[in-house]
Amino acid sequence: MAIKGVYAKWLLYFCVHYLHMLQIGVFGVGHLGKFHLNNWTALDGVQVAGFYDPNDAIAEEVARKYNLQRYTNPEDLLDVIDAADIVAPTNHHFDLCAMALRKGKHVFVEKPLADTMEQGRELVKLVKESGVKMQVGHVERFNPAFIALNGHTLNPMFIEVHRLAQFNPRGTEVSVILDLMIHDIDIILHLVKSDVKNIYASGVAVMTDTPDIANVRIEFNNGCVANLTSSRISMKKMRKMRLFQKDAYIGIDFLEKKTEIIKLKGEQDEHLFSFDIETPQGTRTLAIDNPEIHDHNAIRAELEAFRNAILNNTPTPVSEIDGFMAMDVAHQILSKIQQSTPAVKPVV
Ligand SMILES: NC(=O)c1ccc[n+]([C@@H]2O[C@H](COP(=O)([O-])OP(=O)(O)OC[C@H]3O[C@@H](n4cnc5c(N)ncnc54)[C@H](O)[C@@H]3O)[C@@H](O)[C@H]2O)c1
Repeated sequence: MAIKGVYAKWLLYFCVHYLHMLQIGVFGVGHLGKFHLNNWTALDGVQVAGFYDPNDAIAEEVARKYNLQRYTNPEDLLDVIDAADIVAPTNHHFDLCAMALRKGKHVFVEKPLADTMEQGRELVKLVKESGVKMQVGHVERFNPAFIALNGHTLNPMFIEVHRLAQFNPRGTEVSVILDLMIHDIDIILHLVKSDVKNIYASGVAVMTDTPDIANVRIEFNNGCVANLTSSRISMKKMRKMRLFQKDAYIGIDFLEKKTEIIKLKGEQDEHLFSFDIETPQGTRTLAIDNPEIHDHNAIRAELEAFRNAILNNTPTPVSEIDGFMAMDVAHQILSKIQQSTPAVKPVV
């Protein structure tokens, strides 16, 4: 049973004051790992027991700045924690996750879940066997612009996405599909409750050995079509998703944290700004809804959700299965790209 409201607060208070706090170990304290450390230290009911990072310069800086114990052997850190937070490069996700799960530790792992499908499958199996909680860092699920749509019926039939970023060597150990597009794949799979029917994809490796820019069309069995463009070699940043469904258009700007709904005006929309347009079928009245955005720190929200899932023994909001499904589609896209551009080096 989920424990909510005042009971959740009481439980947290009890954990903090009478039991030992949830002990967290952070594996990888580079760019994103430091954000995780900042957020863990701001959350109730948890304590960072230490971290593991093989890079001496980074580890020394973090140990000093955060006054935390550095472990030079990941197994030793795992022995003193309840939950592992894995923020290492993707090619190390599997080894670290598997090590933690085999020791019965809860795991939060950054996206993508793992490098290869075999690794992803093995992690799903290990979670099932160990009965612990696992969450994957698909942080856009916690973006205020997306959260603002809670309570709205989303049933998109056409989706257009642009995720553009400037070049940064971090993350280039994997293609733009596993680095950036996977965020949108996860959101789309979360929204479209239907199986993938067809995928068409093309991509080009411009700056690295794997595709840096890609355009993908995903067709679903229910007729929904998603068109995704991702680039990590763009001059400007953009993270926009547009959903078109019967009677409504929904625009989500993940970067600017803005959400807009334009819909056929209904009885409940009297308070909204509206305007008429003429169509061959007659006059249509459209209403514009800008759902209220409650700005918050999305990383803190996802780590808090992971903590709550452990404390309340409830499912994590982005499970290992969600992470695996997103990986599965990402890998199908990668093999389509390879088929369409044989000159591109093998991709993982
Ligand atoms: N959710 C998001 O929006 C988002 C954004 C950026 C990065 N990420 C993910 O976070 C992860 C880390 O990315 P980053 O940008 O912080 O990279 P980074 O290169 O800045 O940091 C990675 C750190 O991991 C350390 N490391 C290397 N091998 C390790 C190992 N075996 N065990 C523990 N630590 C190890 C490195 O020394 C480095 O300090 C990647 O999986 C990336 O995909 C997610």
